[in-house]
Amino acid sequence: MRNLTGFCYQEKAMSEKQIFRNLKKRTFRFGRVLLVALLLSAHGFSGNLSVEYLRCEYLVNPLGIQNTTPRLSWILTSEERNQVQTAYRILVSSTPEKLANNNADLWDSGKMESNQTNQIVYSGKQLQSRDECYWKVRVWDKSGAVSESSVAYWSVGLLNYSDWKAKWITHNVEPFTGDKYEELYLPPARYLRKSFKLGKQIKSAKVYASALGLYELRLNGQKVGDACFTPGWTDYNKRVYYNTYDVTDLLKAGENAIGAILADGWYAGYIGYALFVKLDKVRGFYGESPSFIGQLEVTFTDGSKEIIASSEEWMAGLGPIREADILMGEVYDARLENTGWDQPGFNAENWEKADLGLKLSGALEAYPGVLVKHIEEIQPIEMTEPEKGTYIFNLGKNIAGIVRLKVSGEKGEEVTIRYGEMLHNDGSLMTENLRKARATDTYILKGEGVEIWEPRFTYHGFQYVEVTGLSQKPDLSTITGIVMNSDTRQASTFTCSSEMNNQLYQNILTTQFANFFDVPTDCPQRDERLGWTGDAQLYSVSAAYNADVSAFFTKWMQDVDDGQLWYGAYPIFAPIPYIRPYHVPHSPAWSDAGIIIPYNMYKIYGDTLLLRRMYPGMKRFMDFQLSESNGFLRPGSGNNYGDWLSLGKETSKDLIASAYFAYDAKMMSEIAQCLNQEEDAAYYQHLFQNIKKDYARQYMNEDGSLKEHTQTAYALSLYMGLYPENLKEQGAAFLAKMITENGNRFSSGFIGTKHVMLVLSDFGYNDLAYSLFTQTEYPSWGYSVVNGSTSIWERWNSYTKETGFLGGKTRSAMNSFSHYSFGAVAEWMFSKAAGIDTDGPGFRKIIIKPSIGEGLQFMNASYNSVNGRIVSNWKKGDDRLELHVEIPANTSAQIYVPSVERKKIREGKTLIGKSNDFSIVGINGTYTVLQVGSGVYDFTIEK
Ligand code: BGC
Repeated sequence: MRNLTGFCYQEKAMSEKQIFRNLKKRTFRFGRVLLVALLLSAHGFSGNLSVEYLRCEYLVNPLGIQNTTPRLSWILTSEERNQVQTAYRILVSSTPEKLANNNADLWDSGKMESNQTNQIVYSGKQLQSRDECYWKVRVWDKSGAVSESSVAYWSVGLLNYSDWKAKWITHNVEPFTGDKYEELYLPPARYLRKSFKLGKQIKSAKVYASALGLYELRLNGQKVGDACFTPGWTDYNKRVYYNTYDVTDLLKAGENAIGAILADGWYAGYIGYALFVKLDKVRGFYGESPSFIGQLEVTFTDGSKEIIASSEEWMAGLGPIREADILMGEVYDARLENTGWDQPGFNAENWEKADLGLKLSGALEAYPGVLVKHIEEIQPIEMTEPEKGTYIFNLGKNIAGIVRLKVSGEKGEEVTIRYGEMLHNDGSLMTENLRKARATDTYILKGEGVEIWEPRFTYHGFQYVEVTGLSQKPDLSTITGIVMNSDTRQASTFTCSSEMNNQLYQNILTTQFANFFDVPTDCPQRDERLGWTGDAQLYSVSAAYNADVSAFFTKWMQDVDDGQLWYGAYPIFAPIPYIRPYHVPHSPAWSDAGIIIPYNMYKIYGDTLLLRRMYPGMKRFMDFQLSESNGFLRPGSGNNYGDWLSLGKETSKDLIASAYFAYDAKMMSEIAQCLNQEEDAAYYQHLFQNIKKDYARQYMNEDGSLKEHTQTAYALSLYMGLYPENLKEQGAAFLAKMITENGNRFSSGFIGTKHVMLVLSDFGYNDLAYSLFTQTEYPSWGYSVVNGSTSIWERWNSYTKETGFLGGKTRSAMNSFSHYSFGAVAEWMFSKAAGIDTDGPGFRKIIIKPSIGEGLQFMNASYNSVNGRIVSNWKKGDDRLELHVEIPANTSAQIYVPSVERKKIREGKTLIGKSNDFSIVGINGTYTVLQVGSGVYDFTIEK
């Protein structure tokens, strides 16, 4: 379990022991095999580069990948300035012993004269299902000295239909006959098991498992792996993912037992607002009944193999989990526990033979994303009793996850746990904003000493936990909060001179993690939790600064691609289990995620594979947009959310639609260029110019003002390159004036806000950007912080101390306190305020251009890019400005030092003009630009 602020790969060079520990934590047994490999590998290399964080398809030591030409990557660190990789050599072997002897029987890339460290495609022997690949990389530094990495690993999953001997199985339960709008249908979890004997000595064993629904795999009484909510959410009609586990250490010679607990999950349970808006169907969108598939493959020391595969020979029954639904919660009756059901020797006499489940119509593929896990445990900071017998626990921050309950009492006592993000003034739990999400867990005691329980197949968004039904007075140890999310590794740090803004950064992180839950959900608490595409595209760069979201978005982009509508538009959320009657399932600024996110992933990670995969769909989306256009302007027709949750005067939906259309065309031209589609590149460039012309005619006045005078209209027009060159500055001035006249506060909503910040800094209005950033009057980020927020709120006015929820007007149901969208200011914090950006794809060429304004005294920011850790810290002194920059090995940077007087700029003690370590490029605006290589640089700029 990691602390959200910890575990940065660059912070300390990891010792082999640490690497082994990490590997072991992540991957069970094969860590031991890797240790053998580590010990066997004779290092004896003395290069100045250290090679770390080896990954395959963005994952550390993945088991069972689907791709037979995966992309490999590593990170380089060095203490030296201007250090580079001049060549690399990748060795891939089928056993650790072979790798230790440098016998690369799968692939020896040979010495490649290249500085490439990521997106390198495996080009060795054709890989087959189940192949194991041990690999390492050697790198040459600038003076030809060699360094070698530790050993990393990947294995190939089951690639062919014929590899699967297992059948989909389930346990049929009574169908629902009630009124679907009046009554919840929450069937019990199903338990499936099989005993089997292993007669020989075991060498290794893997399980491949999946479910239409959610499964927890058990082997000899233990949970297999540490992931939850497997196998994740997809459009199950198109593809279902399986997970691979190494279970060698869980098996023994003789009698064994394998089992699975199966719940409805996204497949068969309640999803989103279907019940709230009374759709024809309110649950079971992909199927009525969940099923499981699992295949245990054991290899014995004599080389023989045995497969234990799910089939109708497995036994099926019910158990203590009486209800299990993501939105509604879990009911656990401990009196019904079948002790030992997942262990050998269990008497399954009362169980039935498993039923065969549905046959799959889509693909069965290895999970490519980031597994949901228990990330952190939190003890409550306070317990109150607003009403006799009703206890409220405050976890101190608004998280997504569950709680662990520790109770004792009489058999049959029923403990009810409810969840809320806020309290009413009388101290009671506020649940109005959960809408139809029941978000209630119930535990029925067996009456045997201290009973400890946590749910498996539900999660909630909450800071407060209400517990009722206890016969004994609880204390703070009764409840433990368990934070859950896709285990994306934190990539940023940020502190500055304002405590408010430091809290804001923490709130952004908390809310990002709470919503990156297999898909990027809008919110984790109410009956929604959908992968809204608009929120995700607006936030995607912020997300990538804060965490390594490469694999996470790779997985979700597949969902977006699978959700592409028949006429070419990308959906408003993905996966898209239903379409609301009379609602169009696409929208400007939402559907555009299908182009914007792959484009951003290309910029941030240098990923061209995602572009290539999605390109045909992107073109169809562009054709669709053009087909809807009048001239080259898109109407804001259909289901268009406009500048969602803006305040005051609205920006027209037409303007937003056309601005995004133009932005898409601009990106498409660059994407086509990158994919060597020259003709397309020219076509989209031309399209962009045409939209730009029509847009100017429709929306702009000759003095650079817009016909629609809103912050969002200016911000989009400037950000998306829609202003003619000669009117840009005027446009920015109009925006700045409008904000000043509004008391340095926003009136923009989801769509405009982050662009306002980016544009202000681009056009030199840094003081204004900082005044918005540090603002605490409504509406602002600071307003929520001074009102005690620990997360990002859905609305500017979600809560005030004086007037309560939503300005006191209504206790609106649509009022989330964990909505990452407005947190998209993180993009400005890192790319503008601290000034860490990429020049071209993948942070190979870095830009450090701090935008410093009035309001803050210092800022320290770091970002673990795909090429290593970048730092930009600035600090104002009485007579000087200090700038501390760290540039990772094997990259170069242009550092924009904020002064044009080079005689006043020193690096260390040396005037910059006299340094031999870097060169001066020239003056750019108010900056002196330096060209530097890797290393740590300390600048002082005298006033
Ligand atoms: C969600 C948003 C989403 C929106 C579409 C809401 O219910 O919570 O974040 O983008 O619908 O307007």
